[in-house]
Amino acid sequence: MKKILSILAIALIALAVKAQEKSPAFIPQPESVVTKEGSFLLSSNTTVYVPTKFKSDFQPYIGEKLLNDTGIKFQVKSGTRTPASNYILFDLTKDKSIAKEGYQLDVSSQSIIIKANTYAGLFYGFQTLRQTIPVNTESFELPCLVVKDHPRFEWRGMMLDVSRHFQSKEWVKKQIDIFAAYKMNKMHWHLTDDQGWRIEIDKYPNLTKKGAWRADRSGIAWWSRELASPEEPKTIGGFYTKEDIKEVIEYARVRNVEIIPEIDVPGHSKALIASYPHLCCVDSANFEVATGGKAPDNALCAGKETTYEFLDNVLTEVAELFPSEYLHIGGDECNKTNWKKCPLCQQVMKDNDLKDEEELQSYFIQRINKLVTSKGKTMIGWDEILSGKGAQGATIMAWRRNKYTPHIDAPKGGYPTIQASYNHSYIAQVQGPTDMEPEGPKVVLPLWKVYSYEPIPEELTAAEAKLVKGTEACLWGEFTPTESHSEYMLYPRSFANAEVAWSQPELKDWARFQGALEAHFPRLDRDKINYSTSMYTVYAPFAINQLKNEAIVYLETEMVGYDIYYTLNGDEPTTDASKYEGVFKTKPRTLLKAGLFDKKGNLLGKVTEVRLK
Ligand code: ACM
Ligand code: ZN
Repeated sequence: MKKILSILAIALIALAVKAQEKSPAFIPQPESVVTKEGSFLLSSNTTVYVPTKFKSDFQPYIGEKLLNDTGIKFQVKSGTRTPASNYILFDLTKDKSIAKEGYQLDVSSQSIIIKANTYAGLFYGFQTLRQTIPVNTESFELPCLVVKDHPRFEWRGMMLDVSRHFQSKEWVKKQIDIFAAYKMNKMHWHLTDDQGWRIEIDKYPNLTKKGAWRADRSGIAWWSRELASPEEPKTIGGFYTKEDIKEVIEYARVRNVEIIPEIDVPGHSKALIASYPHLCCVDSANFEVATGGKAPDNALCAGKETTYEFLDNVLTEVAELFPSEYLHIGGDECNKTNWKKCPLCQQVMKDNDLKDEEELQSYFIQRINKLVTSKGKTMIGWDEILSGKGAQGATIMAWRRNKYTPHIDAPKGGYPTIQASYNHSYIAQVQGPTDMEPEGPKVVLPLWKVYSYEPIPEELTAAEAKLVKGTEACLWGEFTPTESHSEYMLYPRSFANAEVAWSQPELKDWARFQGALEAHFPRLDRDKINYSTSMYTVYAPFAINQLKNEAIVYLETEMVGYDIYYTLNGDEPTTDASKYEGVFKTKPRTLLKAGLFDKKGNLLGKVTEVRLK
C-alpha cells in the first residue's frame, strides 16, 4: 500500500511538474494555476457572451482587445444562452468563495468560462485569459487550465507626473490600458507642481493660461536651468480641459482603474503662484513658472485667508470632476523659508499657539483636510503630512525612507497607508549602470529591487498590517521629456510593481518572473510599447592594482540563468567569446566588451563597453 501511495505521489508530482511547464507565463502570477490536457481553439467561430448588465462597457472593450490580440473580429453577445460549445462566457455569479476583484477562469476544450462576482473580477479574468493567447501566430490554441485568483492588495497604483513634462491625454490613456492589463487599479495623476499646472479650473483661468506654460530650456540640465523672465515667450507645456479629464476618467472606469488627482500644496506650488502671485508670502519675487529644478518662493502663504478660500474653490471643482473617493493634496517638501519671514504666517502661528513652522504646516494640512472632507472625499497626502499634529482621517502615501520610517509610523499611528517607497518604487530612478542610461536621478533602481519589495514592514502587528492598502510605483517626470522615454522608465518595472501588489508573497519567484517577461516582450512589441531591456545590462566594476600593473574585473547582472560573454580585443562579444566564469585579471587600459546571452545564443540588452583604466 505504502509503495502504491509513493508511486502515486511521484506520478502526481510528475504531472504537476508537467503542468507547471505548460503553464503560460503570467504577470502578475495568479494564486493558483492548474493546467489540464488539451486545448481550446480560439477562432472566428468562437462567440463571446458578456453579462447584459455590463454589455455597454464589455462589448466594445472585449471585442477591441481580442481583435488586437488575434486579428480576429469576434462576435460579442450579451446574456448566458450559449451554444453547446466553442464559446467564451463571462459568468457574473454570487459565489461567496470568490473574493472581491477575484475570478475563476476555466479553459476547457469546448468552452472558456470566467466567473466572478464583480465587473472587476470578470475584467481581470479576461486579462489572464489574454495572457494565454499566443503571439505571432495565425492559430490560437489556448492550453486547458483552471486559474483561481484574487489580489493581495486593494491599492495597486501607478503615479504619472504630468507637471514636469506634459503628456497628451492619448498617451495617458495608453498607459492606463497597459496598467489595467497587468491588473493595476489606481492611477495617481500628479497634475500640479512648480513646472506646470495641468488641470483646467473654471474659476481661476490663469492657472492654465499662465500656469501651464514655461520658458523653453530644453537641452539644458534640469537642475542648471535659469529662471524665466516675464518677457520671455512661454512655449513649453499644456493642460487638460475638463472634457479631456472626463474622457480619461471614463476610459479608466471601463478598465477598473480609479483616477486619483493630486493638487500639490502648500509646497511645489510655483505654477500656481506664477498664476496668482498674491498667494505667496512675499509680493516681489520671480513669479514665473519654474523651467526646471530651481523653484524659489514656491510655497503658498499659510497665513492668508485668501489661500484657503482659493484652495476651497479649486478643490470643489476637482472634487466634482473626479468620482474617486480620494483627493491627494500633496503636502511634501514644503520650503518654509518665506513662512519664517512672513508676518501673516507668524501671526497665525501666534494666534494658534503653533511652536514652529512644522506646526504651521500641520495647521495648513488640517485646514485642507477639513475642506476635502467637506466635499465628501478622503484626503491623501505624502508622509510629510504626519509632521506636527498629523491629519486625522487622512490616508498616507509613505514615500520617504532611510532616516524616515513613515511606512511603519503611519500604520502604527492608525493611518491607512499606501507604500510608495523611495527605495523600491520610485521608477524615475535609472534602471541600469548610470553611464549607460539616459539622464536621471543618480540612484539606481534595478528591476529586481522593485520586484523584491515587501510592502508590509515586519515591525507591524497583524492589525496594523491591515492598514497597508497596497503599493504604488511613481514615475516622476523631471527627466522624461518624451512619451517614449516615459514608457522606457515604466516598463517592465511597473510589471514588477504589479506582481508585488497583486500576488501573494510566497508566489513571488524572480527566475519565473524573468521567464514571464521574456514571453511578454513580444506582446509589448506588438502593442508598440517602448519597454527597457536594461535589466540585461552587464555591470563591470573593476579595480586597478598598480603594484602588479593589472586590472581585476568582476562582471554581474541582475538576471539569473543567462551567460555573460566578453572580449578584450575590441570585438563585439558573441557566444564564441570568453564565457565569464568569475573574477579575472587583465592588462590596464584594455577595452572590455561584455554582453548577456540567452541559451539560444541571442544577445539580450546592450553591450557594456569599459576601458579598464
Ligand atoms: C516626493 O517625492 N516629493 C513625494
Ligand atoms: Zn505667509
